[in-house]
Amino acid sequence: MNNKQIKVAVTRQLPEPVETRMKELFDVNLSNSPHPLIREQLLEIVQDCDVLVPTIGDKIDGSFIKESGKKLKLIANYGVGFDHIDVLNATKRGITVTNTPNVLTEDTADMAMALILSVPRRIKEGVKKLVDDEWDGWAPNALLGHRIYGKRLGILGMGRIGQAIARRAKAFGIQIHYHNRNRLPSKVEESLESTYWESLDQMLARIDFLSINAPHTPSTYHLMNARRLKLMKKTAYIINTARGEIIDENALTRMLRSKELAGAALDVFEKGNDINPRLKELDNVFLLPHMSSATIEGRIEMGEKVIINIKTFSDGHTPPDIILNS
Ligand code: DGY
Repeated sequence: MNNKQIKVAVTRQLPEPVETRMKELFDVNLSNSPHPLIREQLLEIVQDCDVLVPTIGDKIDGSFIKESGKKLKLIANYGVGFDHIDVLNATKRGITVTNTPNVLTEDTADMAMALILSVPRRIKEGVKKLVDDEWDGWAPNALLGHRIYGKRLGILGMGRIGQAIARRAKAFGIQIHYHNRNRLPSKVEESLESTYWESLDQMLARIDFLSINAPHTPSTYHLMNARRLKLMKKTAYIINTARGEIIDENALTRMLRSKELAGAALDVFEKGNDINPRLKELDNVFLLPHMSSATIEGRIEMGEKVIINIKTFSDGHTPPDIILNS
């Protein structure tokens, strides 16, 4: 099919260069809203398109796919995580699903390092002192935090982002531990000087920081439940740049309040932007609004990936970032 004949519907406003390129290449229906569409609007735009470009926040579940009309052939997700898309049902209906891996890796890993430093080094409290005009000069005992160097980081999910965090953390003098479905090849393990833990529970009891970098799937939902959180040291910190659903947010909030955990630095939350208000009140937390991958460069590269996936698909080839059911 000629690219210009391909009808593409985009659910959210994208960076300008991405939209311009899409307009040049496809018959595209862009969105001028930074917010997700409601289900009725989504269903309306999907009826008339060959390709849907959703983002996180668009619930592309089984019933949506059932009602999505006959034209839809490709869901080219603008984002790497695809837990909002029922890939199994899409595939069963002959709809191909793609995502945008690799281009978010380094930005997300950079922010994970910022989060690792944030609570133990009391950055939020330091900033607050200045902003509130309460800083009266350097003092030997002021704002003492905890040393990062020499500590043990446990990475839960050692894919691309987990490994990029490990590379950075190693340069900070942090010892790398990890738990993953599959053990890394020994060459990679050695280059990161990392220790593999087949048992997540055993790793949790031994680390000073836990970085969550696994995808959200039925088997990782609440993987960090109250029982597992309790296995961690009272002096440990938890960092999440993956998906909020992996941690039981209420259990975490309770434990942070009762100082059963030293702190948490979170970029993602169990219910999107509906964050447990008690979590927001705590001093030993550092919270960000899902912005770990938010760089201009990364967002443009995500768009380029979406475009390549659509183009290859419409040229009759297998798109490079096809998501296969595993
Ligand atoms: C993704 O693409 O899945 C990210 O979470 C967006 O930041």
